[in-house]
Amino acid sequence: MKNILVTGGAGFIGANFAIYMVQKYPAYNIIVYDKLTYAGNMDNLLEISDEPNYHFEKGDICDSPRVNKVIEQYKIDTIVNFAAETHVDRSILDPEAFVKTGVYGTYVLLEAAKQYGLERYHQISTDEVYGDIPEGQSSVEDDPLRPRSPYAASKASADLMVQAYHVTYGLPTTISRCSNNIGPYQYLEKVIPLFTTNALEDKPLPVYGDGRQQREYQHVLDHCRAIDLVLHKGAIGEIYNMGTGIEVENMRMIEILLDTLGKPRSLIRHVTDRPGHDRRYSLNFDKIRALGWEPEISPEEAIASTVRWYADNEWWWRKIKEGEFQSYYEVQYGARLGSEK
Ligand code: NAD
Ligand code: TYD
Repeated sequence: MKNILVTGGAGFIGANFAIYMVQKYPAYNIIVYDKLTYAGNMDNLLEISDEPNYHFEKGDICDSPRVNKVIEQYKIDTIVNFAAETHVDRSILDPEAFVKTGVYGTYVLLEAAKQYGLERYHQISTDEVYGDIPEGQSSVEDDPLRPRSPYAASKASADLMVQAYHVTYGLPTTISRCSNNIGPYQYLEKVIPLFTTNALEDKPLPVYGDGRQQREYQHVLDHCRAIDLVLHKGAIGEIYNMGTGIEVENMRMIEILLDTLGKPRSLIRHVTDRPGHDRRYSLNFDKIRALGWEPEISPEEAIASTVRWYADNEWWWRKIKEGEFQSYYEVQYGARLGSEK
């Protein structure tokens, strides 16, 4: 492994991963390939923009000739695919891009990996492919996939295509399924950046339904360490869950968030729920534990440090909040919040 194509690397997790790899492995070349959709942001990569082992190429993973050209140009031997449309609420409003990028785009990358005989194709997946998990249960890697939103279905479809390329063509693949990542550079549509920046502006926090849904909020750096481990020590053809083992109710997450900022509970608004809202995800991650990985940052610490990062980095989020995000916010929350927006 020497020349790694990080697709979707201008987004939240991809950028954190690119920064982590550029800094940890000076002998590797990290080539970020990103379409720069509304979620892609070159500010996310500023920390490494002058590093000699970092390169950026703008492009769509659905564009096969462009993908092939970049693979040839940089002698790519490994693809780590983060590129996707990633927000459940947007997938409910308009699923088309989710199918295009998630399913067709993954196919294009797999074909390229096959054609160029790459050493490894790694797919970044999600706990959402397992669907809503009842209390007392946790998902293991070979559980059936029961996605319930168009987003989750696009991710599950991609995973199945990756598995098919491994079985049919012997492509050296791995897949990782993480829980809800949080940390610096997450687009404002996701719950923690949205609620933190709203609270900083003394605006209401729109909690879907009763807020008793549970998520495994995971610090993005723990996730990056886990991907690094799977790239170096993971077994070909395998899937690895990467969780925290600690489910946190949204209402508890909000308490930590507000307390970190010293903002009042009166900002909380319960609004109309998300259709088909999964109440709970829970990952069993014994398999990656056996490779030697444990989460190092507790969910409470992860939430508080993430909230502090947004409080300290208004330069990063202010321009997003004043751009495309405004029209999305109106569509998603206008009726839910009425005149309170
Ligand atoms: P994000 O929305 O912040 O970033 C996605 C990136 O992909 C953006 O930079 C965007 O420009 C790029 N992109 C989108 N379509 C593209 C295309 N057709 N070609 C090239 N680039 C394209 O997403 P994220 O939160 O960083 O998620 C990264 C990956 O991790 C996704 O595959 C997502 O499904 C998965 N994941 C995320 C979470 C989470 O909590 N954020 C949890 C589990 C899994
Ligand atoms: P989100 O960050 O969208 O991630 P996901 O739905 O992929 O898990 O949402 C995390 C949780 O927060 C989820 O239970 C939905 C809830 N949520 C709200 O209550 N209000 C909101 O405005 C948003 C965006 C999310």
